Amino acid sequence: MDALAQDGFTHVYEPGTGAGAPVLLLHGTGGDERDLLPIGRSVAPGASLISPRGRVLEGTMPRFFRRLAEGVFDEADLVARTHELAEFVLAMRARHGLAAPIAIGFSNGANIAASLLLLRPEVLAGAALLRAMSPFAGPPSVDLTGKKVLMLSGAMDPIIPAETAERLARTLAEVGAETEHRVLPAGHGLTQADLTLLEAWHAGR
Ligand code: MLT
Repeated sequence: MDALAQDGFTHVYEPGTGAGAPVLLLHGTGGDERDLLPIGRSVAPGASLISPRGRVLEGTMPRFFRRLAEGVFDEADLVARTHELAEFVLAMRARHGLAAPIAIGFSNGANIAASLLLLRPEVLAGAALLRAMSPFAGPPSVDLTGKKVLMLSGAMDPIIPAETAERLARTLAEVGAETEHRVLPAGHGLTQADLTLLEAWHAGR
């Protein structure tokens, strides 16, 4: 499947064959629109897949928003990029006649997925946040009642301090998201256990 530069983002769109919710795949720092396609296909067989490439470059590494240092975000850029991504998703939905997608995001992609939930809740039906941290110092007030969120964190993750992942899980639960947060014996990279839990969560939604 060739990547398209359309609706503001270089992306891959794979039309689904089934009736399930589409999946929005959001890669980590230095990744691209192809990284999470295998995960999307195995977690949500038959679902339409939308996989954009982050538009911010850190050196040569694509990201979804700017950071000032590892774990220190440029919140003004994050807000602007979140709205930009939200508009892309809405344009894709209109173009292909899609329902609201479930986001599956890894690392930087998980962080912008969390930001999408908090700033543009109408855009996503739910989200799986793999190695996410709290994107905002003070989270916006929002109502996420009815949205299901899975967070998978690594107990030995050197990039995401446990406290900030827990804070995000707390925030999401407090604003009404049906939040499941699991901490795995893992680092920042994904493991087979992540994929097993992700598949079970997606199947049970
Ligand atoms: C971020 O910048 O979003 C997080 O530090 C995770 C990362 O992408 O390294």
